[in-house]
Amino acid sequence: MLFDGPAIHKRLDELATQIASDYLDRELAVIAILTGSLMFVSDLLRRIPLPLRLDCLSVASYRGKATTSGDVIFKELAVPDVAGRDVLILDDILDTGNTLASVRKRVETAGPRSIRVCVLLSKRKQRARDVYADYIGFEIDDEFVVGYGLDFMERYRNLPYVGVLRKELLEQPNE
Ligand code: IMP
Ligand code: MG
Repeated sequence: MLFDGPAIHKRLDELATQIASDYLDRELAVIAILTGSLMFVSDLLRRIPLPLRLDCLSVASYRGKATTSGDVIFKELAVPDVAGRDVLILDDILDTGNTLASVRKRVETAGPRSIRVCVLLSKRKQRARDVYADYIGFEIDDEFVVGYGLDFMERYRNLPYVGVLRKELLEQPNE
């Protein structure tokens, strides 16, 4: 286990306080990247006492097991109407950066006033794409993690904590 429920919630309190003060008197247009960010989004947004809108984008970056192919597939093509708005993109984890770079580029075409990115986790590693997060819950080593929304082959999302997947599970052949 890396971060248990109370540790995550404590960090979300801090992130929410910072976001609320950075966007004081503004209305946020939140774009959540599903599915991994579901728990994070729900717990974080309830801590932010600002007027805000929430839209979700469903993307998948198909990866052979725990590695990424770099191809980001948009399951939902429409970008929320965020023209002139202050956009905050929420995602579970910054890994290679492919997902966030693609989403960010797409959101830019909608002509927002500003775009910032907030992730629960950021892996310390060289990224394939030049992308960064403005708000980071926790920096972690370059390991495959699950729980609190994050999956391995669609499992473990409902764990109330974030943990490192056991190596022998990662190496198992596909079912
Ligand atoms: P990226 O495009 O490589 O930055 O990866 C982003 C997406 O890959 C995340 O939104 C996750 O859904 C998934 N991902 C990356 N690393 C992990 C991990 O360690 N555990 C579970 N999912 C991951
Ligand atoms: Mg995922």
